[in-house]
Amino acid sequence: MGAHDFRVAILTVSDRGSAGEREDLSGRALEELVLAQGWKVEMRDVVPDEAVRIEERLRFYCDRLRVDLVLTTGGTGLSPRDVTPEATRQVLEREAPGFVEAMRVASLRKTPHAMLSRAVSGIRGSTLIVNLPGSPRAARENLEVILPALDHGLDKLRGDTSECAPENP
Ligand code: MTE
Repeated sequence: MGAHDFRVAILTVSDRGSAGEREDLSGRALEELVLAQGWKVEMRDVVPDEAVRIEERLRFYCDRLRVDLVLTTGGTGLSPRDVTPEATRQVLEREAPGFVEAMRVASLRKTPHAMLSRAVSGIRGSTLIVNLPGSPRAARENLEVILPALDHGLDKLRGDTSECAPENP
């Protein structure tokens, strides 16, 4: 196990949020959960549903800030402006689909609308990027699903070479 002093960036993708027409409740909800883990929120931003803007932030978090984890919230659905998964794919170097698979399975038990999220997850450099849905409740519910695997996953991403004991998730 590592020190679990993970550094996290949170990106809210929302046209209304970036125009100041809506408070960033999802970003705040995610920040609360991250801080409750004892991790550090290095940066929190709101950008409109524009692929170029999303990609720029993701590259900055991964390549400059070199955070351990990037959480995005919003823009994963089916509407024409929802481009977060496409923008994320542009910057990903390795796939890590297990996170979004687990989120979809768990969320489907709560609502059939879970299948509407096109969220992706993967790795750029030594940063894990996970897309979450946009509503504060959905963002929280989805992050809660993957939290139990993140300590170990982020340790591995940092290069931890210890054995993966099944009884030690
Ligand atoms: N997942 C959970 N756990 N709870 C929810 O209420 N809402 C869904 C889905 N995932 C939801 C959820 C809905 S209604 C949509 S449209 C998609 O996430 C995509 O949301 P987004 O476009 O805000 O990213």
